[in-house]
Amino acid sequence: MNNNPKLYEKVNNNQRRDVIQLLNLFGDVIKWRNDGTDSVLDIGCGTGDITSNILGAIMPKSFKCLKGIDKSHEMVKHANAHYKSSKMLFEQWDVTGEVDIAMAEQFDRIFSFYTLHWVQDQKFVFFLFKFYVFLN
Ligand SMILES: C[S@@+](CC[C@H](N)C(=O)[O-])C[C@H]1O[C@@H](n2cnc3c(N)ncnc32)[C@H](O)[C@@H]1O
Repeated sequence: MNNNPKLYEKVNNNQRRDVIQLLNLFGDVIKWRNDGTDSVLDIGCGTGDITSNILGAIMPKSFKCLKGIDKSHEMVKHANAHYKSSKMLFEQWDVTGEVDIAMAEQFDRIFSFYTLHWVQDQKFVFFLFKFYVFLN
């Protein structure tokens, strides 16, 4: 996996297209909290552009927190430099080994796009998810 965020953001048109299509397709079945104060995790957020501009755009405007995690320091640094806001942040975590159920339970919804095929321990990741939308 290439860890060059600037390069990845230049060539991720297919990923952006697919995530938009997926969220259009399943947007109606995603159950947000009644009060709209959702906390959402994006596993393998990469550069953060899809987290911020596509996932963030379909969430209730009153959402509480949108956190992107990625094991790549370069990706997380880029994401925070470009997309961090008062309610949106990015942290370096490896989903295998560093993320546990207690952490996952802090979130109302968990998403992951184009990431799970990189993760060795697939059983763990699927166990972790309450609700997942994934593209691989
Ligand atoms: C193809 S990119 C997808 C980025 C973004 N979700 C998108 O759809 O454009 C895959 C990302 O998963 C991250 N990744 C791979 N294995 C991971 C793991 N075990 N824990 C967290 N992130 C991981 C990589 O660093 C990379 O940024």
